[in-house]
Amino acid sequence: MARKQFFSGVQPSGHLTLGNYLGAVRRWADEDQDRADALFCVVDLHALTVEHDPARVRRLSRQAATLLLASGLDPQRCTVFVQSHVDEHVRLSYLMECTASDGELRRMRRYEERTAGSRARAGEVRLSLLTCPALMAADVLAYGTDEVPVREGQAQQLELTRELAVRFNRRYGPTFVVPKATRPRVAWRVRDLQKPASEMGASQAGAAGSIFLLDEAETVRRKVLRAVTDGRPDVAYDRVERPGVANLLDVLAACSGGEPEALAGAYDACGALKEDAADAVVELLRPVRERHAELAADPGYVDAVLRAGAVRARELARPRVDAAYRAVGLLPAV
Ligand code: TRP
Repeated sequence: MARKQFFSGVQPSGHLTLGNYLGAVRRWADEDQDRADALFCVVDLHALTVEHDPARVRRLSRQAATLLLASGLDPQRCTVFVQSHVDEHVRLSYLMECTASDGELRRMRRYEERTAGSRARAGEVRLSLLTCPALMAADVLAYGTDEVPVREGQAQQLELTRELAVRFNRRYGPTFVVPKATRPRVAWRVRDLQKPASEMGASQAGAAGSIFLLDEAETVRRKVLRAVTDGRPDVAYDRVERPGVANLLDVLAACSGGEPEALAGAYDACGALKEDAADAVVELLRPVRERHAELAADPGYVDAVLRAGAVRARELARPRVDAAYRAVGLLPAV
């Protein structure tokens, strides 16, 4: 049987978090890069859909790529690259804008949230925030992707990608594979330490609730020890009634390999749970941080990986995007 084609993206709009690592990156490194023909993309164009600082995007893009390698993605076994290095994403995005309707893009939850309430606010929103689901569809469809792992907040966007693929194929003939969404295991959906109702890193809740992969050990400890719980002295695993405590148990379980319900029985008090969770996170991230420091000291190596990744990605995407251009009636360049 042919190997599956797998695509995933990380957006360099902020620093990568423990949530990104436990919910996604760790599994890409441990399983996905061997199980499938896998592409891992720093989706830098998506970082321009909101107000941005050029120097920061540049820095975060390089940092994200370096962290993917530091987390164990092996360029001998998978393709790591930067979206803007491969023109096919933008070429295909335009055809996706010609496939999607204005109404369905306006109904995307992320766009609605950002523009809700005030007309004036909508006036400041970049047009690319409206059209970015077309770009995401292009990211995925250009590669004949079968599987895309999605977090809670991305499910609606991937559903649109699937619809656009089906619609395009029906109108213009079979061109794209219709991708399937896969979900990270629920226990690895790490919540914000200060606001356990939100996903870690997904909200603007600020740095105190998010652990960043490059945080110093002392910072990690402080953030975990200050995590919001609920004032009750005992420890029990209840995601609904006691989300803060449940999150600490999830984090500890994800770091140490246990089950959160079973771990709850081992603690009488939140203080001890926090201590152990802090130690577990520090130990989990130590090798990633160390490897990141080595790689960051050798930018020539990271550049070479990204250059080769872009060449490979372009080879994969080019024929399918060319076929899509012909299928919609654009005259082939000879
Ligand atoms: N839009 C996604 C997000 O907000 C990031 C993303 C862009 C992505 N292109 C992708 C994720 C392709 C998976 C596959 O997080």
